[in-house]
Amino acid sequence: MPEWDALAEHRKQLGEVRLRELFAADAGRAGRYGIQVGDLYLDYSRNLVTDDTLRLLRELAEAAGVPALRDAMFRGERINTTEDRAVLHTALRSPSDAVIEVDGVNVVPGVHSVLSRMQVFTDNVRSGVWKGHTGRRIRTVVNIGIGGSDLGPAMAYEALRPWTSRELDFRFVSNVDGADLHEALRGLDPAETLFIVASKTFTTVETVTNAVSARKWLLDGLGAGQEAVARHFVAVSTNAEKVAGFGIDTHNMFEFWDWVGGRYSLDSAIGLSLMVALGNDGFREMLAGFHAVDEHFRDAPLERNAPFLLGLLGIWYGEFFDARSHAVLPYSHYLSKFPAYLQQLDMESNGKSVTRDGRPVSRRTGPVVWGTPGTNGQHAYFQLLHQGTQVIPADLIGFARPVGELSADLTAQHDLLMANLFAQGQALAFGKTAEEVRAEGVAEELVAHRTFPGNRPTTTILAAELSPSVLGQLVALYEHKVFVQGAVWDINSFDQWGVELGKVLARRIEPALAEGADVPGLDASTAALVTRYRELRGR
Ligand code: F6P
Repeated sequence: MPEWDALAEHRKQLGEVRLRELFAADAGRAGRYGIQVGDLYLDYSRNLVTDDTLRLLRELAEAAGVPALRDAMFRGERINTTEDRAVLHTALRSPSDAVIEVDGVNVVPGVHSVLSRMQVFTDNVRSGVWKGHTGRRIRTVVNIGIGGSDLGPAMAYEALRPWTSRELDFRFVSNVDGADLHEALRGLDPAETLFIVASKTFTTVETVTNAVSARKWLLDGLGAGQEAVARHFVAVSTNAEKVAGFGIDTHNMFEFWDWVGGRYSLDSAIGLSLMVALGNDGFREMLAGFHAVDEHFRDAPLERNAPFLLGLLGIWYGEFFDARSHAVLPYSHYLSKFPAYLQQLDMESNGKSVTRDGRPVSRRTGPVVWGTPGTNGQHAYFQLLHQGTQVIPADLIGFARPVGELSADLTAQHDLLMANLFAQGQALAFGKTAEEVRAEGVAEELVAHRTFPGNRPTTTILAAELSPSVLGQLVALYEHKVFVQGAVWDINSFDQWGVELGKVLARRIEPALAEGADVPGLDASTAALVTRYRELRGR
């Protein structure tokens, strides 16, 4: 598309664009390059862009048909072409009077009916009306799931801890490594433990394996038979048959639909553990937050559209600054799992190398997404962000007010936390020149070592506090950012065929490990490792 060429030409003209110079030349840049979206303020002034860059990027998005694809998604068209599915996570948070049709059927009543069932269940567990097999109330909820059936609720539970019931304990088990379930169940009383088995397909081997082990732990612990399962296991799935096959009464199943992708499922019934933690009101507030950003994404003009902006900035750096990764750095301990959540959202969506019609993609697609809470990162990998040889665009996320019942002393620490966020953005953008270092009297042989090149792009996202609604807004912002990028690259962001091969091979290799079975076609490298493994296991 000529729009790519125009951007390449523009990049050449910009040459060694310097943030110091961009700010010096435009006193209003900080204010102009900011957008308020719901409760989120996005400052994108510290990006290596000019008005021309942003215009050319928007033209690229228009030419690539991103707005049209967005509208098709909202309308419920089957834009996930390789799986022939609609992509309607936006329907999960739409108001009950909305009409969104898939194959002529309005899906919104179904969404709200499941939400109502979740609400009843939530109220019963929280109030103690829901009793375990022995008549005791539930004290611990264990969510068993993996990928989107774990990362969403686990991340959001962590993010919103101050808003959750402190009378109940929540644990999340995902890894097929038995250590995960072992540690999660430590100290729990089976009579007071409720398992939520969350799996869209209900065929995922990690989840089913852990669920079987959990059921055994429960029945052994209670000394009870299969009849105890109904009071201690509920399921969240699209697959009623498999749920019944596992032994969970389908009355205790909360459904969702094939048009909800795993990594987009937090606000479907997959969020059941979160709803129990937050209560119905908190969960609905989160959904309203999602919905507010959906509306913004659908309706705001491209030049004021935050997901478009974030998506296009990422494309700009990947294509024209050779940026291979993107850091997400929350200055909130509660958001410690947010980068891991975004890894699935972004990398499973846009880690693709063929276009929608199966041709090799000609552009660099999704970056490696990574990060941890910012202050901890400062004492670990920020060295590379400041003085390494590669450009790593970063998002800095912070909040004006701490939440929760912090003591006055701990509340006072919040200014220090946020001072770090602001300082890092400043240092990354503007650095410290050799002249400035010399002016401090630093010995000449150390000047190069103590110089900061700056010009490292960041976007700052600021909100008043990390509430359920704000979390919903944040997640929706990134969901739609990922959409924009996938649409520009003309890839299908909604399938994940790349995870299949490893799953199939693991199933073939497993019998070789346990029984020494001959696996036909095993390559020499894997065969040698299997032999060594068996020796180490004394087999
Ligand atoms: O790893 C692939 C994947 O299909 C993810 O997309 C999904 O979130 C995860 O596995 C879990 O799948 P399920 O919910 O079907 O157990």
